Amino acid sequence: MEFAGSHILSVEQFGRADIERVFDVADSMAPYAHRRKITRVLEGAILGNMFFEPSTRTRVSFGCAFNLLGGEVRETTGIENSAIAKGESLYDTARVISGYSDVIAMRHPVAGSVKEFAAASRVPVVNGGDGANEHPTQALLDLYTIGKEVQHRGGSIDGLRIAMIGDLRFGRTVHSLSKLLANFDRVHLTCIAPAELRMPGEIVEHLRARGHTVVESDAMESSIGHVDIAYSTRIQEERFASREEANLYRGRYRLNQAIYTQYCEPNTVIMHPLPRDSRAEANELDPDLNENPNLAIFRQTDNGVLVRMALFALVLDVVHLVDRYEAPVSWYTGKRFGE
Ligand code: CP
Repeated sequence: MEFAGSHILSVEQFGRADIERVFDVADSMAPYAHRRKITRVLEGAILGNMFFEPSTRTRVSFGCAFNLLGGEVRETTGIENSAIAKGESLYDTARVISGYSDVIAMRHPVAGSVKEFAAASRVPVVNGGDGANEHPTQALLDLYTIGKEVQHRGGSIDGLRIAMIGDLRFGRTVHSLSKLLANFDRVHLTCIAPAELRMPGEIVEHLRARGHTVVESDAMESSIGHVDIAYSTRIQEERFASREEANLYRGRYRLNQAIYTQYCEPNTVIMHPLPRDSRAEANELDPDLNENPNLAIFRQTDNGVLVRMALFALVLDVVHLVDRYEAPVSWYTGKRFGE
């Protein structure tokens, strides 16, 4: 694919070579993301960070990624704080914000809304999540993390055995990650969900049509015994008709250290796009896993900065200039607490 000047709306834009290109550029961003060097390559550029739905890590890491490349960030959060609450259309909002920005990151609760916005934008738009549809940058950072984790254990994405657990119907991260995985070889995907929250049939069929194995189950313990990755997800309460309906499924699958020890292979990597629902009635990924070295959830969030830096550098066509605009770091950058 041609990255320069393109919108990033769906993982369907990416073939295997494109994914590998993003990952190579993400690797090259490590010195800047880890504060060993500074680059000012995007000095003067502005990111419009438009989050019309709650977010912590996607919104902040998009902003950090742009800042780490030397750019500035202007943002709005929540429909209630934007003129959309006064009846402004996505078309008008896109025309306005793209006049203020060089690239836009956007999250919106309605599937397809980011694509609609992008059609009216005068600058590239990156999808930060549109309803239950897609979350392409999350999928890229998840797959980047999977690659690092399995490589560390002597494996590769080809031949990966992965279980996705929880709300596979409304969870946009698992939709996007499944479609990305389809670009690789011999993936064995186990979909663990209640019958009502199963992975959409078209995604299952897409994987099978490309030669991958997909198994569906509603039982977690008996299905996580032979996987490289156990990828847990939150019940997407905001996509249900009511909290009561979401409560029917909340807490159905709880992974903790005792279950992990009893049922998983010793090196199974535990992932989650976050936020994990840590309320007692859910507790889908127990805090007693926090000291488990195979818990990769905070490596995922760290990697999100690298991957989002890579996408901005590719879309704004500055990959070859990043080191030309670099400088030493002038403040204390010793080990971070806990490292
Ligand atoms: N994973 C993810 O999208 O997290 P946020 O909702 O905090 O952005």
